[in-house]
Amino acid sequence: MSLQISPSILSADFANLEAELHRISAADWAHVDVMDGHFVPNLTLGLPVVEALSRVSPVPLDAHLMIEDPDRWAPQYAEAGAQSVTFHIEAVADPVATARAIRAAGARAAFAVKPGTAFEPYADLLAEVDMVLVMTVEPGFGGQAFMTDQMPKVSAVREAVRRHGGEIWIQVDGGVSADTIGTCVEAGADVFVAGSAVYGAEDAGAAVDRLRQLALA
Ligand code: DX5
Ligand code: ZN
Repeated sequence: MSLQISPSILSADFANLEAELHRISAADWAHVDVMDGHFVPNLTLGLPVVEALSRVSPVPLDAHLMIEDPDRWAPQYAEAGAQSVTFHIEAVADPVATARAIRAAGARAAFAVKPGTAFEPYADLLAEVDMVLVMTVEPGFGGQAFMTDQMPKVSAVREAVRRHGGEIWIQVDGGVSADTIGTCVEAGADVFVAGSAVYGAEDAGAAVDRLRQLALA
């Protein structure tokens, strides 16, 4: 199992995104939170910005789409240069078709579950995706408190992945920090999104290295 760090640029300086991406060149991914003001009560950025970031980023982009109608939009994020595209299971009409369209456009496909959404009804989708994102906060904002009560869900996904076979990653997103990453590893997660814990640090690169060391410990 490979452990990967995906800092969220939601906590970066939006006036200097190219420089902010270079601060995390030691990371495995740059997590890009796309919010449409409808699926979540916050609005961030969309396709043109992802396309621009993909041209200058030293690390691949991990797009997390918190938007309505991902069936329509998700494949376009892959075409715009995101190398991983995650849609929310609560928002999608046809998850199989959407995952296949993302992969056909050349990206890894993933679905996300909000804290109140169970994983079990979607276990069959493991055949169609490369990653499952278990949210550890309510999506919408950075800097919220980590929800430990989501760890049994992470473990259930890990068990389902083990039964299914193959290399499907399990990502956690929200409140992941030096204090909480160990709990996530124990539960079975292997891709860690961290926004404020990385961009709130003076030395973002050192924060990435520290999270990686703690995950490996
Ligand atoms: C929340 C976003 C997260 C957020 C995480 O809706 O999906 O990616 O940026 O921020 P922290 O790590 O500060 O909780
Ligand atoms: Zn996110």
